[in-house]
Amino acid sequence: MNSKELLKKEIDESKQGEILNIPVAKKSTKKIYIESYGCQMNFSDSEIVASILKKEGFSTTQNIIAADIVFVNTCSIREKAELTVRKRLEFYNSIKRDKNPKMLVGVLGCMAERLKEKFLEEEKLVDIVVGPDAYRDLPNLIREVKDGKKAINVILSLEETYADVTPVRIGGNGVTAFVSITRGCDNMCSFCVVPFTRGRERSRDPDSILKECTDLFNDGYREVTLLGQNVDSYLWYGGGAKKNFKNASKENQLNCTKFANLLDIIAKANPLLRIRFSTSNPQDMSIDVIETMAKYNNICNYIHLPVQSGSTRILKLMKRGYNRDQYIALIDNIKQRIPDCAISMDIITGFCSETEAEHAETLSLMDYVKYDYGYMFKYSERPNTPAARIEDDIPEEIKQRRLSEIIDKQQKHSLLHMKEKIGKTYEVLIEGVSKKSNMHLYGRTTYNSTVIFERGDYHLGEYVMVKIEKCTSATLIGKVI
Ligand code: 5AD
Ligand code: SF4
Repeated sequence: MNSKELLKKEIDESKQGEILNIPVAKKSTKKIYIESYGCQMNFSDSEIVASILKKEGFSTTQNIIAADIVFVNTCSIREKAELTVRKRLEFYNSIKRDKNPKMLVGVLGCMAERLKEKFLEEEKLVDIVVGPDAYRDLPNLIREVKDGKKAINVILSLEETYADVTPVRIGGNGVTAFVSITRGCDNMCSFCVVPFTRGRERSRDPDSILKECTDLFNDGYREVTLLGQNVDSYLWYGGGAKKNFKNASKENQLNCTKFANLLDIIAKANPLLRIRFSTSNPQDMSIDVIETMAKYNNICNYIHLPVQSGSTRILKLMKRGYNRDQYIALIDNIKQRIPDCAISMDIITGFCSETEAEHAETLSLMDYVKYDYGYMFKYSERPNTPAARIEDDIPEEIKQRRLSEIIDKQQKHSLLHMKEKIGKTYEVLIEGVSKKSNMHLYGRTTYNSTVIFERGDYHLGEYVMVKIEKCTSATLIGKVI
């Protein structure tokens, strides 16, 4: 699609937004348009940005042409994500040139630090560059750019958790919401850029998390996903980065809140509020967490547990803190305590020096676990990460072939899990109207499977019991009973 066609598509979509009654800002207010890429954390951050700017009189719009500022919340996890963002920036600039010369263009998030010089100074693609810990500075930066200054803040923080900022839910369904509980990551997996783009790990005050969840429940929400790069290492001992824990007072150390305690607090407080969480790192997931999941009905029986590779040698090169046997032992522990627990994974294929035999170990691990879902990627070298010092020596065709083999296997396993559910009845939380037919609704089971059923007289946010009649590899189809 060329930029004119894209622009037309964008205008059509924004009109659709108005027709569908998606909140579009009134003419009298200043408007921001935010587009998010990457992980759920990025989408959640965009809601924090919208909240910070709401206090300055900005409201969000789905109509890019009418926006005073366009932000793209960026991801640098893989090369492809960066290319997508660059294309979007070029598109925004075409709108600026042809339709809206006063519009400001800003880059938020993970790409900010790495590409600040390139975007702002060399290519002049953007007016504002803001890193993930500097969103409170946005009102100042907007004023600065209006005064003709360079507006940039990519400073990372050891403290910032935006605990006191109530997110403005952008384009949500009013039933499910993200709640961030930690920021940053201290793990330093060798392939990963996150510790550089998002900084040191810090946890958010449990009282503010509980309050956000309870407020959401009172507003009609029925499911929260607790977000963090590594939720299992959540640790609240009175504030600050996790690395400072050893300097905390004895009393604070003794009274600290860990992830299992946090789950307990939230699950107990609102029994009709479903809880999910993401992402779990196998090296930090404790038996306490699994036991807390087993104890509460409203904690969903679903764990996203990225394995990355089935080979102990590759896991060591990746600097993951577990080996194949330890990962398998964790899976066994989960299945023993929660036999029906759904499990999903991330796998990176074609990591530096991966042999055919090591790739076969990944395939055999998949056969052992039989994941319900999976997110699978070809390794792409990220600048300045520890793995960038190792040769990226697996040819593209081999990476692609290994990826296809992994995807094929996963599709078989996903279909197997779906077929097992035919004839059974599950509780489904209704999230919306089916994209394919407005006579149908969709929702999810505790296992995170999507279920489609006839609309009847049911409403968003209700729990219904659905008997499954058929399936595809991604969706269950059934009847409310
Ligand atoms: N190349 C490919 N995939 C990556 N991931 C993270 N870094 C890279 C990289 N350099 C994948 C991992 C991670 C997921 C969010 O993205 O599987 O769990
Ligand atoms: Fe992308 Fe990772 Fe940043 Fe999320 S935290 S936006 S996945 S680089």
